[in-house]
Amino acid sequence: MDRINIAIDGPAGAGKSTIARRIADKLGMLYIDTGAMYRAVALKAVNNSFDTRDKDKVLSILKDISINIIHMNKEQHVLLDGKDVNMEIRTPEISIGASNVAVIPEVRLKLVQIQRKIANNNDVVMDGRDIGSFVLPNANLKIFLSASVDERSNRRLKELHEKNVNDISFEDVKNDIITRDKNDSTRNFAPLIKAEDAIEIDTTEMTIDEVVKKIISLIGK
Ligand code: CDP
Repeated sequence: MDRINIAIDGPAGAGKSTIARRIADKLGMLYIDTGAMYRAVALKAVNNSFDTRDKDKVLSILKDISINIIHMNKEQHVLLDGKDVNMEIRTPEISIGASNVAVIPEVRLKLVQIQRKIANNNDVVMDGRDIGSFVLPNANLKIFLSASVDERSNRRLKELHEKNVNDISFEDVKNDIITRDKNDSTRNFAPLIKAEDAIEIDTTEMTIDEVVKKIISLIGK
């Protein structure tokens, strides 16, 4: 049976996870957050006191790493070597670390293999940076979400405040986003890019509901 795959890509803070989760929920599909997998690799490096930019060190942990995705109450949980690390992977340090390890082709290929397998076996709404352009080139619908850097920084700051992370300024968040945007879109292998057949939605002035509605209407077509 052919599976339905929806790809949602875009830079940090564009609203991918919120939107993808809502759409998956509405359509009874599985939401897959691929960024969480890159974050798990970064966490393992940091737990070993390795610099996430040190390719040899990162490759050394890749050999026997186990990354599994499970769903509990519709929420995705990432298991790193059998341990649920959902909370630990959401810190600013791991955000930058994920972007660093994501440059390494071997890391990407390993995670892409897991992502394709899940998409093969389930109807998924998958969010990331390279889903439409590389992971699922035959996805039924490809969306590229964008928003201004300031708007994305504001959204991320709000999200951190909701998680009681208050010791970070707007400027810090904005710098983190600018650094990752650059890292993600300039890497050689599977960079952050809008697939040719993706539909771009600039969400700067849009509410979550408006974006969800717009995507659902595109699915209808
Ligand atoms: O939630 P946010 O957009 O801030 O980040 P994320 O989706 O959790 O991804 C964290 C980092 O993982 C990104 O900055 C990318 O460098 C990397 N990533 C990637 O390279 N490819 C993906 N498909 C997903 C994430």
